[in-house]
Amino acid sequence: MNVRKVGRVAGKVALVTGAASGIGRQIAVRLSEQGAALVLADINPAGLVETAALLAGERDMVNLDVGSEPAWQDAVSHVSKRFGGLDVLVNCAGIALNDDNIANCTLAMWEKVMSVNVTGAFLGCRCCLPVMRRGGSIINIGSMRAFAASAERLSYSTSKSALLGLTRSIAIHCGRAGLEIRANLICPGGINTDLGSRLMLNEADPAAATAREAAEYPLGRLGEPDDVAWMAVYLASDESRFVTGGSLVIDGGFTAQ
Ligand code: NAI
Repeated sequence: MNVRKVGRVAGKVALVTGAASGIGRQIAVRLSEQGAALVLADINPAGLVETAALLAGERDMVNLDVGSEPAWQDAVSHVSKRFGGLDVLVNCAGIALNDDNIANCTLAMWEKVMSVNVTGAFLGCRCCLPVMRRGGSIINIGSMRAFAASAERLSYSTSKSALLGLTRSIAIHCGRAGLEIRANLICPGGINTDLGSRLMLNEADPAAATAREAAEYPLGRLGEPDDVAWMAVYLASDESRFVTGGSLVIDGGFTAQ
């Protein structure tokens, strides 16, 4: 393994789900720049190849549907063989649906969102923990919707609230068991990615709807994937060694209102 010696996460091995796009891609880019070896995981192989091309350091790709336990077991076994263990797990894969309010949300919609956003993160933690090394860090990507629910995102808001409990429970377990593994939840506000753009396609005038949304933020704009990626670098690094069970909001002041 070509382990790099410089950077805030030098020598660490990080697995990032949802790495084919948006926030997950940018987290992978920054972790790689800061010296980590990356395992890029997603259901979109073409997107993974594009992300891999952005990384200068050691990297690998796995085709992983986060809702599938056998797929996680294969991925973990691959990572163990290639890298001997894991230091950082970033559960970033996530989906959001339109027409997702209590009047319209069907059981199928609900189960689809829960399967990726909640079960996906649960399985990631459950399957990776046994191969995580001391000093390890689990980073789950939640949302400010865990605190400020949206009427139009019922299953999404619920899924992100569930990640609060998941992350806190894991943090307490790992701490009390003396594993020296931390777990934290990053809760972004609206970030400029394909996910947000896809939801806006439902609007009559997507540009005007995006401008209206941006105006709801005290900083007057949506965030960028890098705004989240730098927090992930901090949580992945030993700089955050006393931070666990936390939910760190990155939302341009939205939930401060
Ligand atoms: P995105 O749509 O750009 O990227 C999501 C990635 O997850 C895609 O590459 C997709 O292929 C992958 N994915 C979807 N289902 C999967 C599955 N079953 N298994 C493996 N990979 C799967 O979205 P974005 O914006 O980068 O979102 C990343 C995370 O950030 C999500 O958890 C989302 O809920 C969260 N988030 C996003 C916000 C935003 O405004 N963009 C705000 C707050 C949180």
